[in-house]
Amino acid sequence: MRVTILGGTHGMGRALARRLAERGDQVFLLGIEPEELARSAADLQARSPTQAAVGAALCDLADPSTFAPALAAAAAALGEIECVIVTAAIFATQEAMEADVTRAEALLRLDFTNTVVFCEHARGLLLGRGGGTLCVFSSVAGDRGRKPVILYGAAKAGLSAYLEGLDHKFHAQGLRVVCVKPGFVKTGMTAGLRPPPFAGEPEAVARQVARAIDRGTPVVYTPGIWRWVMLAIRWLPRFVMRKIGF
Ligand SMILES: NC(=O)c1ccc[n+]([C@@H]2O[C@H](COP(=O)([O-])OP(=O)(O)OC[C@H]3O[C@@H](n4cnc5c(N)ncnc54)[C@H](OP(=O)(O)O)[C@@H]3O)[C@@H](O)[C@H]2O)c1
Repeated sequence: MRVTILGGTHGMGRALARRLAERGDQVFLLGIEPEELARSAADLQARSPTQAAVGAALCDLADPSTFAPALAAAAAALGEIECVIVTAAIFATQEAMEADVTRAEALLRLDFTNTVVFCEHARGLLLGRGGGTLCVFSSVAGDRGRKPVILYGAAKAGLSAYLEGLDHKFHAQGLRVVCVKPGFVKTGMTAGLRPPPFAGEPEAVARQVARAIDRGTPVVYTPGIWRWVMLAIRWLPRFVMRKIGF
């Protein structure tokens, strides 16, 4: 599979890029740090069974003018793109964003508006070749309005709804949309936060997501137990949600 990934230099994106490279997929990295991109590309090349060269291009989710050139560079290097993966996003605590509305605005723009704009570029590209897979990391935080993640969750709720709509409209034209909803996973994004029960590891997430990409599974909770946790949370009455801290 020929795949490009935005966010493959750290966390779950890096684990997923490594898994795909190790099984022989051709990977092209998109990201913001030239040195990180070069280091990660060399790492993926060393892991590839064919030692195939891994390309990279700059793409900043904060700057939509970088999206089209980055995807064009990926398409040129890979020949064509069969799968676009987006794991890049930022996180800030609810308290930090309540105290600084500019921080909230930056997160909402990056994690929702600009991510959707990037996906629109990717959608056009994939449909232009007759289909392909768009795999995007949303979050369980988008499944219900909750006190600790009101703003981050709102961005991810919008993203999940967008991805579901894409699936409904374009599945018949060959677009396979995979919306990944991680629970708590131990990465740089969650460093310093106390891991709850069922906290996951990036490598296990990568295994599950690679399988979902192969099968075209539309929604993936990872670790899998979060499907049942969120099912229960979605059914909790509002008076209970007002009382609990979750
Ligand atoms: N960790 C969790 O518990 C958790 C839970 C639910 C959902 N998620 C979601 O899962 C996805 C992956 O999370 P993670 O924990 O693996 O995150 P992470 O370890 O913080 O990695 C985030 C990646 O995004 C890239 N990135 C950040 N800002 C960017 C920008 N402006 N332009 C382009 N790339 C940018 C980073 O690039 P650099 O490598 O250059 O820093 C990094 O590769 C995210 O969408 C996150 O919201 C995570």
